[in-house]
Amino acid sequence: MIANRILGVQRSPFYSIMDLAAKRPDCIYLQLGEPDFVTPKHVREAAKRALDEGHTHYGPDRGLPELRQLIAEKIKREHGVAYNWADEILVTAGGQAALHVAVMALANPGDEIIIMLPHYPPYVVNAQLSGAKAVFVKLKPEDNFVPDPAEIEKAITAKTKLIMVLTPNNPTGAVYPREVLRPLLDLAKRHDIVLISDEVYECLVYDGAKHVSLAAFPDAREHVVQVNSFSKTYAMTGLRVGYLAASSDKIIQFLKYHHTANISANVPSQMACVEALKGPQDCVEEMRRAYQERRDLTVKLLNDIPGVHCTMPKGSFFAFADIRELNIGSLEFAEYLVRDAGVVLTNGSGFDYEGFVRVSYAAKPENIKEAMRRMKEAVIRLRGKKKA
Ligand SMILES: Cc1ncc(COP(=O)(O)O)c(C=O)c1O
Repeated sequence: MIANRILGVQRSPFYSIMDLAAKRPDCIYLQLGEPDFVTPKHVREAAKRALDEGHTHYGPDRGLPELRQLIAEKIKREHGVAYNWADEILVTAGGQAALHVAVMALANPGDEIIIMLPHYPPYVVNAQLSGAKAVFVKLKPEDNFVPDPAEIEKAITAKTKLIMVLTPNNPTGAVYPREVLRPLLDLAKRHDIVLISDEVYECLVYDGAKHVSLAAFPDAREHVVQVNSFSKTYAMTGLRVGYLAASSDKIIQFLKYHHTANISANVPSQMACVEALKGPQDCVEEMRRAYQERRDLTVKLLNDIPGVHCTMPKGSFFAFADIRELNIGSLEFAEYLVRDAGVVLTNGSGFDYEGFVRVSYAAKPENIKEAMRRMKEAVIRLRGKKKA
C-alpha cells in the first residue's frame, strides 16, 4: 500500500532514545536543535496582530512581497550581493521545506549528491526521495570537521549534481572559513555542480568567528542555492518560515514544487518575520551571547568527564563530543545515559558518525550543569564496570 520511496527511508534512530526517555520523567534533554528562548515579544505581537486583523487567507505563493523585499535587503546589507526580491527569493515553510524543495527540483534519479559526514540526517532522506544517491565524504576531528575541498573533489563523478554545504554546522558546530568556501565554489563551477548552502545557523557564531555566506561571492548565482530560516535566529521554530535565494530560473522551478506542497507559507508567521527583520535586533545578539556562555559551560564540563573530549565549537548550538576512549557504541552510550542518568543527548551514529555524541546547549545553564554532573557520574560508573 505504501510507496517504496518512503518505505526505503529509515525511521530516525533518535526515536529509540526518545522512546526510552519518555519512560523516565526526570530526564534532562540536551538533544534538540531548538532554541529554549521564547520568541521575542514584538515578533509574537506581530503574529497576533495578523490574526486579529484577519490575515488568515492564502498568501502569494512566492511569499509576501514586503517580506521578500526585506530578505533581499538583508542579504544585500550583510553579504553585499543584490538578489531581486521579485523573482530570486522564495519564502517556504521553514528551512526544512526549502531544503526539500531545492533537492527535489534539482536532483534527478541516478544523480549523486555529496553529503559530508557527520550529516544533518534530512539531507540523506531528501537524496533518497529524489532518487539520487548520497555520496558521503567523512570529515575529520583533527581538522575540526572543516572540509578539505581537495577531498570533496575526489568524490565528484560525472553524475554529481549537488553538494550539501552546512555552515555553521549541525552537529559539529564548525564554521567554514572563506579559504574553504571559495575553493568549493570554484570546484562547483568547474564541474557544473550546485552547492546547496544551508545557513540556518548564520547568526550563531562565537569568539569573533564570522559567518561567510557562499551566496556572497559575486560569481555564486548560478552555482549556489542559499537556504535560510527565521527559526534559530529569532527562536521561532514553531512559526515555520524559511526561504531560498537563487537565480530566477531555479526559483521558478522551485515554485512549482513549493506551490504543489504548500501553496504559500503561513501568512501570520510571515508577518511576524516582517517584524523580526524590521524591528530591533538586540534580541538576536542577546540570545547569541547566552548561547556562547552555555557553550563555554558545556564544553568545560564535558572535558571534566574522564574519557570524554570536546573541542570548542565556533557556531550553532551543538558540541560534538569525542567518546572514542570509552569504547562503547554511541547509541549504546546514549541509551545508557538515558537509563542510568536521565540525560538525553544524540548518538553520533544518527549522523553516520561513530565515536561521538551531539550535545545541544540550547538549554538552561542549571540544566546543563545538572546533566553534566549526572553524565560524569554515569561515565565513572561505566568505566568502573568495564574495568571489573
Ligand atoms: C542544519 C539544519 N538545516 C535546516 C533545519 C531546518 O530548520 P527550520 O525548518 O526550522 O528552518 C535545521 C533544524 O534543526 C537544521 O539543523
